[in-house]
Amino acid sequence: MSITKESELIGMKKISEVVGTTLKLMREYAKVGMTTKELDLYGGEILKSYGAKSAPFETYGFPGFTCISVNKEAAHGIPSDKKILKEGDLINIDVSAELNGFWSDNGGSFVLGKDIHNHQPLVNASKDILRKAIKNIKGGVKISEIGYLIETEAKKSGFKVIKNLAGHGVGRSLHEEPENILNYRVRTNRERFKKNTTVAIETFISTNSTIAVELNDGWTLIGNKGGFVTQHEQTILITDKDPMILTESNGIWN
Ligand code: CO
Ligand code: CO
Repeated sequence: MSITKESELIGMKKISEVVGTTLKLMREYAKVGMTTKELDLYGGEILKSYGAKSAPFETYGFPGFTCISVNKEAAHGIPSDKKILKEGDLINIDVSAELNGFWSDNGGSFVLGKDIHNHQPLVNASKDILRKAIKNIKGGVKISEIGYLIETEAKKSGFKVIKNLAGHGVGRSLHEEPENILNYRVRTNRERFKKNTTVAIETFISTNSTIAVELNDGWTLIGNKGGFVTQHEQTILITDKDPMILTESNGIWN
């Protein structure tokens, strides 16, 4: 959305702090032996305590308040009382919600406990690439240029990007213009980031796959060639200098 008055910025800051804090607390709450359902219910309670509504649950009829994807699941994992978290699991939590007509979106991947499967390099690459991408965004920068940066940095680290998942505009709804802030360059795309707009920038960095495909449950996405995928996502306000990171309360970079 385009921010035209102070009250809109305040609204976006508030919901962004709520989804950021929810993500941070959920990550801290995740423990070996816990089900993803328990973790999701905890997140759902936090959102509720702020009066915020889960975006996937309210808008898309998703069977959960947050998306929790474990190991081979790339995104949109359904919280389940059958999925029990284990030492060394690669977990992604994505929290998006609405408050007073404003929407915000954030997510992050992390390793639970000891990194016995060596997922940390993939997690670190995703974090570093998101930081670098955001640092390079300001009003007037081409969206394709940021896609090129993400793809190039992924390659440099020995990884790939998922081509059919993307960042997006956010604010008055969960997904709005620009609809596809891709993790690679589409040369024909001449669209540019606009100053004073809010967007969700997200990485999808992978070990093997380049396409996310949906499982029969109608939600869960996995890589077309297997392997693992990490995602980190922040909602930001674009300025003519460094962007303002509205969801930074999530601490995904710490
Ligand atoms: Co998200
Ligand atoms: Co998003």
